[in-house]
Amino acid sequence: MSESDDVKESTDRDARAEISDAAVRVAMLERQLEHAQKLCAIGELTGTTTHEFNNVLTTIINYAKMGLRHTDAETRNKAFEKILAAANRASKITSTILAVAKNRKNRHEPTDLVSLVEDTLLLLEREMNKYRITVEKVFQPIPEIRAEGNRIQQVLLNLLINARQAMPEGGRLAIKLSHDAETEMVDLVVRDYGSGIPKEKLPFIFDPYYSTKTGPDESGKGGTGLGLALCKRVVEEHRGRIRVESAVGKGTAFTLKLPIYKKSDAQEPGV
Ligand SMILES: Nc1ncnc2c1ncn2[C@@H]1O[C@H](COP(=O)(O)OP(=O)(O)O)[C@@H](O)[C@H]1O
Ligand SMILES: [Mg+2]
Repeated sequence: MSESDDVKESTDRDARAEISDAAVRVAMLERQLEHAQKLCAIGELTGTTTHEFNNVLTTIINYAKMGLRHTDAETRNKAFEKILAAANRASKITSTILAVAKNRKNRHEPTDLVSLVEDTLLLLEREMNKYRITVEKVFQPIPEIRAEGNRIQQVLLNLLINARQAMPEGGRLAIKLSHDAETEMVDLVVRDYGSGIPKEKLPFIFDPYYSTKTGPDESGKGGTGLGLALCKRVVEEHRGRIRVESAVGKGTAFTLKLPIYKKSDAQEPGV
C-alpha cells in the first residue's frame, strides 16, 4: 500500500467517524427537542388549567357566601345549583389534567375528536372570554379517528392559543370538523380572523424555535417557537397532514387531516 493510499484510507475513516458523530448529535438534539416540546406543552396546560380552576373556585366561594347570607329557600336553591354546576366543571377540568398527566393511553386508539375538541375548549373557556374571542363550532358528524388523545389535545391547544394570540383585540375563531369519505380522513380546521402570516414567513412557521413573538404573553404562552413544530411532528406520527393558508390582515386557517379508525388498526397496537 502506498503512502497516499494510507492517507486516503485514514481520511475516509475520519470522514466516516465524523458522519456517525453527527448522526449521534442529531439524534441527541432530536431527543432534547422532543423533551422541550413536552415541557412546553405541560407548562402551557398547567398555566391554563390553574387559571380555569381558580375561576371555578371563586364561583363556588361566592355562591356559598350568598347561600349563607340569605335564608330563603329560593336563593339557597339557586346557590346550590350554581355550586353544583361549578363543582362539576371543576371535576371535568381535573380529570382532563389527570388524563394528560397519566398520558392518557399512550397509544393510538379509536378517539372521539368531537369530545377532544370540546374538552380542550372547556380548558380555554375563561381565556377566550378574557380576550373577547368568540368561538364558532361547525361540527359535521365524523367517525372516530385513530389517535393518541393526549398528543392531539396538545396540537389543539397550540393551534387555539396561536389563533387567540393572532387576535389581540378579540375576534372570531372558527373550528370545523368534517369527514372526507374518499380519503378516509377527518378534517379539522382552526380558522382565525386575526393578523395573518406574511407569505415570506410561511415556509418557516413549522421550524423549531421559529417565533415572531417577543416571549411568553401575560398568561405565559407562546414565544418559544415550539408550538407548530410539535403540531407537525404529532400529526405526522399519526400519518396525518397539516396545512396552512393565510392572508395578512384577513387571518389564518390550519387544516389537519387525521386518519379515521379502521377495524384493521386493532391488529396494529402501538402504531
Ligand atoms: N394563527 C396564527 N396567526 C398568525 N401567525 C401565526 C399563527 N400561528 C402561528 N403563527 C406564526 O408562527 C410562529 C410560530 O408559531 P409557534 O410554533 O406556535 O411558536 P410561538 O407561538 O411560540 O411563537 C408564530 O410566532 C407566529 O409568527
Ligand atoms: Mg404557539
